[in-house]
Amino acid sequence: MIGIFDSGVGGLTVVRALEKLMPSLALVYFGDVARTPYGSKSKDTILRYSRQNTEFLLDQGAKLIIVGCNSAASVAGHLLAREYQVPVLEVITPAVDLAVASSQTGRIGVIGTRATIASGIYEEKMLERRSECRVISRSCPLLVPLVEEGWMGRKETKTIIRKYLHPLKMQSIDTLVLGCTHYPLLKDLISPRIGKGVKIIDSSIAVASVLQNYLENHPDFREKLQQNSEKQYFVSDMTDTVRSVARHIFARDIDFKIAKVTGL
Ligand code: DGL
Repeated sequence: MIGIFDSGVGGLTVVRALEKLMPSLALVYFGDVARTPYGSKSKDTILRYSRQNTEFLLDQGAKLIIVGCNSAASVAGHLLAREYQVPVLEVITPAVDLAVASSQTGRIGVIGTRATIASGIYEEKMLERRSECRVISRSCPLLVPLVEEGWMGRKETKTIIRKYLHPLKMQSIDTLVLGCTHYPLLKDLISPRIGKGVKIIDSSIAVASVLQNYLENHPDFREKLQQNSEKQYFVSDMTDTVRSVARHIFARDIDFKIAKVTGL
């Protein structure tokens, strides 16, 4: 099975994207609700949590890990890929590849948490691939709590999104990367405010399609994965927010189990 972890419930947007593309894939999800958010934590702490989460998923039988959290991917993705014997995918590289390939003007916006934007990883990877790119990044720390409060339809949320996007709009970007697990849930509010002509890159969809390609190119590995549609959902703490965000993402109730993760 495939193992996915996130700092909380936002990574379920990655599960939803995987489920749409490959419904029979067996997977195990871990959301570190007890220690969320990661986006405001130090690199060392995020790395330590990411290792513990990876080990939990491997103990459950995961044969491939997806770092479903942009904040964790930005500081730990490359290290986990080096440290563990299984393939490790993360949400950032697929979104970068898609953004640089689809931008006409090379003016690309990126929004994410403080940790993700401070890491500079999106810009670094984009410039590696297309050196004339102009990358305009902005951290949007209020958006995760607004989603978790279920304030998606509120006028205050629309105002805050407009304020966050204003500097990106002024720079005439033609592509915008949603560099945080929660932002796909705000896509319908973000799109008209950044401008209809701006292409939105959703990192959850991007990583799902990279996994699909990976499995097509590695049939031996694909054979080893269960294809019985089994989905297991673990969290390190259970709250009303977990239930309501999950219901919003899947339009159904999800059966969560409490995980015993070393270090918690
Ligand atoms: N999952 C995080 C991310 O994608 C958002 C929530 C958090 O800050 O932990 O960056």
